[in-house]
Amino acid sequence: KVADLKGTKEGKLRLSVITTATYFMPRILGAFCQLYPNIDVALQVTNHEQMQQRMSNNQDDLYILSQPPEDMDLKSQPFIDNPLVMIARKDHPLASRQNISLEDLQSYPFIMRESGSGTRQAVQNLFKEHNISVKVRLELGSNEAIKQAILGDLGISVLSKHTLTTACHEDLTILDVQHFPISRHWYINYLSGKQLSVIAQTFLDFLLDRTQLMEV
Ligand code: PGA
Repeated sequence: KVADLKGTKEGKLRLSVITTATYFMPRILGAFCQLYPNIDVALQVTNHEQMQQRMSNNQDDLYILSQPPEDMDLKSQPFIDNPLVMIARKDHPLASRQNISLEDLQSYPFIMRESGSGTRQAVQNLFKEHNISVKVRLELGSNEAIKQAILGDLGISVLSKHTLTTACHEDLTILDVQHFPISRHWYINYLSGKQLSVIAQTFLDFLLDRTQLMEV
């Protein structure tokens, strides 16, 4: 029983989370570790493609991502919304406009996540569906670097809304673009064939319980 674990349970929890979950996981882990101080946690932060690799190798207990791979046998539960929004610097020409069409985006430099990123995949799917081709000026492998590049006036980009919640971002704004936000969730997953450890099960229950009423 969970209550029996408090203070006495020892062991290791191996977690793998996609890049955007770093804006939220440390807080949940903090609360969890306070309750179970003898559990050690190993937290891997990757993009979707690298995580799929870790899943294939059965490297972690639990995996948090937003686009569960369809070709893997997973137990998967959604928890918090993880919408993708279009972000620009506040003085960008589009910042004052409303109901911007996807076509309008084509005239402005765009910053894209690296190949293997789920964010990139979602953006490319939407653009492809609507026959849109943006001018990618820069590819970057980090959400934080993309925010800095937007601030540096290198272009606009799509990021999870969660990336905006931490530091001070007075100079960034969310554009009002048709078909945005792209709505998604975070899912917590484990391999169907895997017997979860008591610790992993405890964390899974804790996470679902704690996030039930949370909003973005
Ligand atoms: P990514 O995932 O790092 O693979 O782009 C982020 C997300 O889906 O929120």
